[in-house]
Amino acid sequence: MKNKLICMASATSLLLGVSCKNEPKSEPVQTTHQEIAATYQGKPITKAFDAKIDSLIAAMTIEEKTGMLHGSTMFATAAVERLGIPELTMADGPLGVREEISKDSWAPAGWDNDFATYYPAGGGVAATWNTELSYVFGNSVGEEAIARDKDVLLSPAINIIRTPLGGRTYEYFTEDPFLNKKMTVPFIVGLQENDVAACVKHFAANNQETNRDFVDVQIDERTLREIYLPAFKAAVQEAHAYSFMGAYNKFRGEYLCANSYMLEDVLRKEWGFEGIVISDWAAVHGTKEYLENGTDIEMGTPKPFNEYYFADALIEAVKSGSVSETELNKHVKRILRTMYTLKSIDDKGRAKGSINTEAHFKDAYAIASESVILLKNDKNMLPLQTEGLKSIAVIGNNATKTNALGGFGAGVKTKREVTPLQGLKNRLPENITINYAEGYLERYSKNENDQKQAVTLKGPVTVDELDPKVLEDALTAAKNSDVAIIFAGSNRDYETEASDRRNLDLPFGQEELIKKVQEVNPNTIVVMIAGAPFDLRQVDAQSATLVWSWFNGSEGGNALADVLLGNVNPSGKLPWTMPKQLEDSPAHATNSFPGDKTVSYDEGILVGYRWFDTKNVAPLYPFGFGLSYTTFEISDVTTNAKTYQENDVINVQATVKNTGTAAGKEVVQVYVSKPDSKVERAAKELKAFAKIDVAAGQQNTVTLQIPVKELAFYNVDTKSWEVEKGTYTIKVGNSSRHITGEYTISIN
Ligand code: BGC
Repeated sequence: MKNKLICMASATSLLLGVSCKNEPKSEPVQTTHQEIAATYQGKPITKAFDAKIDSLIAAMTIEEKTGMLHGSTMFATAAVERLGIPELTMADGPLGVREEISKDSWAPAGWDNDFATYYPAGGGVAATWNTELSYVFGNSVGEEAIARDKDVLLSPAINIIRTPLGGRTYEYFTEDPFLNKKMTVPFIVGLQENDVAACVKHFAANNQETNRDFVDVQIDERTLREIYLPAFKAAVQEAHAYSFMGAYNKFRGEYLCANSYMLEDVLRKEWGFEGIVISDWAAVHGTKEYLENGTDIEMGTPKPFNEYYFADALIEAVKSGSVSETELNKHVKRILRTMYTLKSIDDKGRAKGSINTEAHFKDAYAIASESVILLKNDKNMLPLQTEGLKSIAVIGNNATKTNALGGFGAGVKTKREVTPLQGLKNRLPENITINYAEGYLERYSKNENDQKQAVTLKGPVTVDELDPKVLEDALTAAKNSDVAIIFAGSNRDYETEASDRRNLDLPFGQEELIKKVQEVNPNTIVVMIAGAPFDLRQVDAQSATLVWSWFNGSEGGNALADVLLGNVNPSGKLPWTMPKQLEDSPAHATNSFPGDKTVSYDEGILVGYRWFDTKNVAPLYPFGFGLSYTTFEISDVTTNAKTYQENDVINVQATVKNTGTAAGKEVVQVYVSKPDSKVERAAKELKAFAKIDVAAGQQNTVTLQIPVKELAFYNVDTKSWEVEKGTYTIKVGNSSRHITGEYTISIN
């Protein structure tokens, strides 16, 4: 670990008044760090402990305090060396620990020891529907973060996927609030076990990149509570996240980093959050109202660090009395408490971690191998039978494209990213020839008029004509091979932070490529690698075999090859709805995306499959969908009672029989609906799920628990959650559109 303190004041030095050079004069602190640490010991904060922190704060100057409230480098706050307070160090993020950034610019710092494991992006993690793997991810990346001496990892990113066009869809988990919170909680727990704080982002209602710096999001209260906030709430109340990131945009007229309703009323008062709120990078636009309304640390503006709103301007505000010192102390105290919790002060006993290890690559592999989704296998071409197979055409730019870095936004500098082509080479017997052809080129238009084509959606404009020579090579490879696999989709240059996609079209002429390859070789398998839905109607209609994979981490190519070859039986399920066309999606059907200065979420609670299933719009592939190389039958569903009270837990039992010939994993999904509700309800809401492993020909019984309180809706009149009495329908199946049985229960 790097030594954080240049001049670490020891307990004795403090008590004896021994000081470092240039230190402002102050009263000796009445306590020692060792004492505080001993009192605290990583356990919940006590009043006595708080009093000790107060005495430390009393010894600090205004300048020292403000130094802790803003970036003094790109990813850290200032240390108070004479008091033994180190910097608070941060790093992105969701795909793994980001490479070290220069102290005063976005340029890479150029270290040679900041290689890290690249983990599957959010969509892939959620597609596992395996909460244990989410814990594995959190814990693994937490070990990497602490090994890099980071106090805060700017992760997980858990905004709800409202539109398939969202530039960060690949980074977020899902369109469903229940799946979202179930994946979020274990991730944070695993991460924070390493004495690293999660920074849960982006709080909240940050569901589009278009105009994200200023768009004013309007969401009705019930929708906010039922769809957009549950995972954030669970992050506080179930996972005890130490920090949150305030989003860029406005919510109901106020910037989220100055939004007292969200930061003070909901996050702190209602949910009991005691940690720190860190602004998104350059999301603070003022001093007093931002500090007083709940932001603790300002990060990320491109101007000199002393010009931050929480720097010189804050010092002045405190000195002139416009911001009270009590207010300042409140924020410093939150940060100090968190630092003690993380053992970053007096780091005795702090986790040490490890980075870029085989064990972590294995974790990345485990997640990736359960995230791959088999969408279609009509001719049973998969798993590929290698016996007798002489040649495979591997076609597509995505066969060799890497995604650890790319686009605008945080990536990972990694020593290992196994591409799909490399994965196949690693796994295929040597006697099978691979005929690789790029097939389509990743090209973007340089024509300025093209860039202006869509005034609001600023996603990249692609060149969608195939290059004749590149196409010809692909067709030759396909003709000369027993089987063709096309690795299609997008990449992280195309799906990117800071802009939403312009449409759902498959870019770079891939539709035509797929069609032409299929014409010359009917044994063609299409593998999509992407983080967000595409309009696949034509591809789907033409293809017998369709697989979905993600920006899937260091081991993505190996995991994918293992699925294609049957070493791993696919068990991924879609974490969002694949619409047939954009207009079918709720934000687009209601014409309420992307707005202009304001965006109003007119579809209300009917986000994702809630819309499709309630309005009876057929998706191309439904939420929760994914096939296996075996078949399952879900039967004998029972509940442990017919009637329940509000504090009860409903036990739903089901038998899952593996009716095929291979071992496999199935995700049992329980959706609930409330007929004759006094409020609008979705036709289905996911309320429980379980992924279970069943050997071929065997059956397992699974019990899923639904606390009756999960059935509540948010009553805007009483401003509270209400469990309506009466009848509910429990729908059990393996996607939102494949329900094998419906059962009725009632709540008294
Ligand atoms: C992103 C955050 C990220 C931050 C620091 C912002 O642009 O929205 O998710 O953590 O930059 O890189």
